Parts: sequence; structure tokens; C-alpha cells
Amino acid sequence: MLTILNNSLIKHKLSIIRNKNTGTKEFRELISEIATLLCYEAMKDAKLENIEIETPICKTTAQILKEDNYAFVPILRAGTGMLEGLINVIPNAKIGHIGLCRNEETLIPEKYYYKMPKDISQREVIILDPMLATGGSACDTIKCLKEDGVKKIKFLCIIAAKSGIEKIQEKYPDVDIYAATVDEILNENGYIVPGLGDAGDRIFGTK
Ligand code: PRP
Ligand code: URA
Repeated sequence: MLTILNNSLIKHKLSIIRNKNTGTKEFRELISEIATLLCYEAMKDAKLENIEIETPICKTTAQILKEDNYAFVPILRAGTGMLEGLINVIPNAKIGHIGLCRNEETLIPEKYYYKMPKDISQREVIILDPMLATGGSACDTIKCLKEDGVKKIKFLCIIAAKSGIEKIQEKYPDVDIYAATVDEILNENGYIVPGLGDAGDRIFGTK
């Protein structure tokens, strides 16, 4: 399933992060803010538990999310830019990290780090990465998580290129994709066009 956040306020925020003149601080804040909105969308169908509570007025049945059913997995580096936006709304989720870096020539991701919570196979995993370009990094992450026994995976990104969406849908049709927007093409260097440039460099100010 593919869900695109079709919302005027998100379009407004996207126009700011796409702009090359937007500085690191504002870029980072907006990535985190859009990540929160993606998280709300991804949690639309989340299972809830009934609990009995008392409001200042009366007793009632309320519904709560089982927060310890979830794990967030940001893809290093850029995915960590989205993490705060998710922890703000689901503070008790556990966090795993995968380090992947695309080889600039082949565009094939190279894995340099992998550390997941021990009980990862029991959790629903939400992968975070602002950019879905060729889909190589996303698919490698999904593969590792499935090898670890994870059954339910959602992938959250800010900009998804059509090629990346198609790759995930072809290889892992059970993974739900949530994107703030979709861009049509990649350039000869594997960058999304128009995109926003190198997300990691813009979040961390490394270029
Ligand atoms: C970027 C981005 C994704 C990946 C997307 O990371 O954050 O992880 O590229 O491209 P793909 O869909 O073609 O795999 P990069 O490899 O540049 O590493 P960085 O986050 O450390 O900058
Ligand atoms: N990674 C990025 O950071 N930006 C792109 O446009 C593609 C991959």
C-alpha cells in the first residue's frame, strides 16, 4: 500500500525544504515536523486497547496504543533526522539503527552498522529515511529486518521517487509506504529530481 500525504500545509513545508537557500536549522526542524505527520498517518489503523479511566466528570472507557509494540529504525545518517518527530509522539518505542551508505558510482548501498532491539521480531517496525531514490537502501533494510523475523514493516519517507516505490512494491508488496510526496525521476547521479539534494548533508550541514 502506498499513502501520499496530500495536504496543502505539507506542500507548503515541502517547498521550504526543497529550497536550496533554506538553512540547516530550519531544514532539520521541518524534516522532524513532517516525520511526525507521517507518523500520524501510519498510525491511523493501529490496534488500540480499551482501558477504564475516570475523567473529572465520570468513569469511561478510553483507548490506548500499546507503545511497546513498536520499533523505529532510522537508516543512517539521514533517517535520524526524522527520529525526533516520531519519538515525540510515541516516546516508548524502541529504536534500532542500520548504517547504509550508497556507493557514489554504483549507487549500491554498503552496510556499515546494524543494531536492533533484542525483541525486534515481536515488534511492528517503522523504517525512517527522508529519501527513497532507487530503493536500494530501503530494500536492504527490509531484507535485514525480515531475516530477523520482523513480520510487520512500514516505510516512512519525505520524498519518494517512482523507481524506489516500484522496487519496494515489487520485492516486498507487504510493506506499506508512507511518503509526503512523490517525484518522477532520478538524475544520472541517482539524485531525486527536483528532490531536495543530499538529505544527510542538509540535515547535518556537512556540505
Ligand atoms: C541517502 C538517503 C537514503 C539513500 C536513498 O543516503 O538518506 O538512505 O540515499 O537512496 P537509494 O534509494 O537509491 O538507496 P546516503 O547513502 O547518501 O547516506 P547518508 O544518509 O549517510 O548521506
Ligand atoms: N539520497 C539523497 O539524499 N538525495 C537524493 O536525492 C537521493 C538519495
